[in-house]
Amino acid sequence: MEFSTQNLAPEKLKTAVLAVGVYAGGELTPSAQAIDAASGGAVKAVLGAEFNGARGNTLVLRNLSGVAAQRVLLVGLGKSAELTARHYASVLASAAGALARFGNREAASALAEVEVTGTTLRQRARQAAMAACAANYRYDATIKREETAKALDKLVLLVAREDAADAKRGLAEGGAIGNGMTMARELGNLPGNVCTPSYLADTARKAGADRGFKVEVLERKQIEALKMGSFLSVSRGSDEPPRFIVMQYDGAKSTASAKPASGKRAKAAAAAAGAAPIVLIGKGVTFDSGGISIKPGAGMDEMKYDMCGAASVIGAMCAVAELGLPINVVALVPATENMPNGRANKPGDVVTSMSGQTIEILNTDAEGRLILCDALTYAERFEPAAVIDVATLTGACVVALGHVNTGLFSADDALADSLLAASRDAIDPTWRMPLEDEYQPQLQSNFADIANIGGPPAGSVTAACFLSRFAKKYRWAHLDIAGTAWKGGKEKGASGRPVPLLVQYLLNEADRKA
Ligand code: BES
Ligand code: MN
Ligand code: ZN
Repeated sequence: MEFSTQNLAPEKLKTAVLAVGVYAGGELTPSAQAIDAASGGAVKAVLGAEFNGARGNTLVLRNLSGVAAQRVLLVGLGKSAELTARHYASVLASAAGALARFGNREAASALAEVEVTGTTLRQRARQAAMAACAANYRYDATIKREETAKALDKLVLLVAREDAADAKRGLAEGGAIGNGMTMARELGNLPGNVCTPSYLADTARKAGADRGFKVEVLERKQIEALKMGSFLSVSRGSDEPPRFIVMQYDGAKSTASAKPASGKRAKAAAAAAGAAPIVLIGKGVTFDSGGISIKPGAGMDEMKYDMCGAASVIGAMCAVAELGLPINVVALVPATENMPNGRANKPGDVVTSMSGQTIEILNTDAEGRLILCDALTYAERFEPAAVIDVATLTGACVVALGHVNTGLFSADDALADSLLAASRDAIDPTWRMPLEDEYQPQLQSNFADIANIGGPPAGSVTAACFLSRFAKKYRWAHLDIAGTAWKGGKEKGASGRPVPLLVQYLLNEADRKA
């Protein structure tokens, strides 16, 4: 999608459709006022019964005299005093949905002028681009459709001349995040018989070639050589071969992290140059049947989404590369199915992780942590500035936080605060959960160093505690996206979350270093 800015009186902009904001109760934004004045009162004429400015409502006006745009889309902003950044994002989503439904390739928006407490113009422009990308996405891969809908491929943002630079920056960021979300949504929505571990690897490889980051794919033999006994134990139950995907984006001026730094002095130099990478890890279970601890049938199809963590880190890498951020980022994806064949893990089995710690598998459905723990150990070789793993890890997280907030777990307050700040900036809601040592005894095993489940109490916390045992050598945070990676019901489909949070965090890190 293409984004640009214009500095014109709203009534003079030639476009297929122009969106302008109207508050509840009929107060007009400056652009709505200009359209109203130029058209001899066409906006005020529909206020009241036809259009009340309720948040997210839209009404289209056609062929207004004195207005160059073919259509004007009135967009309800609700009460100005109640317009929070989150409400504003939802308004943009309705506006973009309406703009996309006209079937025109091009549209314009004057909604960036709307004042929203706690937001900057750059942020509002970013949200506009993200909303446009989201409205444009439609799942087609495995559906035969008669008509192919025309996509909106050009959005013009009306802004004052002095705001153009900020707006352009925001649009570029939002466009990159939007593209990353589209990538994540498409991978998530693809069925498990298409989106296999090898498919994920091929997609990462292609994305790296297109966007300019390195991708290395490790196959079973190489994974065995690394002694990732825990990861391999999960994939043994499936006929699909596992893949361990390593993506590397080197944007920092000193590329000391391109190869894992060797020698104390090289490592110290890399750290001093700000070149120590941020490592992202995404859970890539392309279908989670539960294994021998098999899941009940109802809703099991949704376990095709169990690779949404992987999809989000691939999407985030694409966005970072598209923006050319001056930082180093590594993304790791352990990819496998969790299936119950004759060689599958059995409850009571003990496996040895890459870290050397042994794990008693009391429930084969707690497989996410079994593959992530080996990726966490692999991450050590990058001497990372921080490691963030993203996983549809526990049903318990859905019980705790529903489908609104992603769960954030970290013992590092500064890292947690940075992620929470990014979550607010990107409007990708995230809630910090506890991660205290008092929960650790729940993972005690009589037959191994650690058990893979901690019983019913605080299931999402004990899952995070399990991961923490493998993340002791660096700053680390864990994001449980079980409730937020996809939507159920009529709107069933992958959400693209937490790509906005991840990219915003990396953007903020790049800004901080600049
Ligand atoms: N992929 C699931 C978690 C999940 C469940 C995500 C529902 C989204 C919706 C994970 O592998 C799993 O099965 N976790 C178990 C852990 C339990 C056995 C300790 C769970 O949450 O039930
Ligand atoms: Mn599972
Ligand atoms: Zn799972």
